[in-house]
Amino acid sequence: MTAEQAATGPGSAPSSVSSVPGGESEPEAVRRRAGGAESSRANRGWWDRNADEYQSEHGAFLGDARFVWCPEGLDEEEARLLGPASALAARDVLEIGAGAAQCSRWLAEQGARPVAVDLSHRQLQHALRIGDGRGGDLTFPLVEADARLLPFADGSFDLACSAYGALPFVADPVRVMSEVRRVLRPGGRWVFSVTHPFRWALPDEPGPEGLTVSASYFDRTPYVEQDESGAAVYVEHHRTVGDRVRDVVASGFRLLDLVEPEWPDHNRQEWGGWSPLRGKLIPGTAVFVCERD
Ligand SMILES: C[S@@+](CC[C@H](N)C(=O)[O-])C[C@H]1O[C@@H](n2cnc3c(N)ncnc32)[C@H](O)[C@@H]1O
Repeated sequence: MTAEQAATGPGSAPSSVSSVPGGESEPEAVRRRAGGAESSRANRGWWDRNADEYQSEHGAFLGDARFVWCPEGLDEEEARLLGPASALAARDVLEIGAGAAQCSRWLAEQGARPVAVDLSHRQLQHALRIGDGRGGDLTFPLVEADARLLPFADGSFDLACSAYGALPFVADPVRVMSEVRRVLRPGGRWVFSVTHPFRWALPDEPGPEGLTVSASYFDRTPYVEQDESGAAVYVEHHRTVGDRVRDVVASGFRLLDLVEPEWPDHNRQEWGGWSPLRGKLIPGTAVFVCERD
């Protein structure tokens, strides 16, 4: 059992991979405070070490050029949370926490001009490996950066999006969303998905044991995996639904919709704590659809 499985945690990351630097010993899973810099440092290392496992475990589900918002399988091709197809052509789109940039690749195929940002060098190497998804080179820029400090001029983008990228991992979501607002043009849409906050009250298990409340939904203490010296090697941050709404508004956005994707019958795939069993009963993902005020 990994430390991640042993503790109540939200588990945006796959649960079957080693999160130990060097792989020597299991990290300890705790709930404790973790600041912005510590969280980014820990998560950069974690994603660099685990990107290969993540892509080999989930790459088929994600597809090379598919925009899937969540383990439930909500697809932007059908959901159109960023607006109608006509709203994508020739638009500058920022993707945050892009991983191997599957969503950006789909956006490029729709005629948009995506820029894919991620904290992890190794995740972006997978984006290069996949290229354009048809044997050719990537057709859009990759940027290695922390979403807490976006290296773009004000008003550079028409749209911004993130599928489980950055927001579940940062201590200071208002700082990230204020950066997103800064680089968006007036009226620009900002859509992001995160673990549904309700999941934080439950064990991160796909089976029936993941259906019994074991922690307080109201406990915002971060989930931290730490090494023997107490240094964080992985961090996730909890915000309640109300916190997320307040963060959106405090960052200068209007909330247009809050989507809680239901688990479709055809999806039989488990992803960490996400499973058909739990998906039929409780929400696993929250997608916030916002517009720059
Ligand atoms: C769960 S993965 C999602 C990746 C991709 N969006 C997908 O759907 O496969 C989370 C990603 O967020 C990135 N990330 C975490 N913290 C970040 C930060 N502060 N700034 C930018 N990216 C971050 C990680 O490196 C990782 O690639």
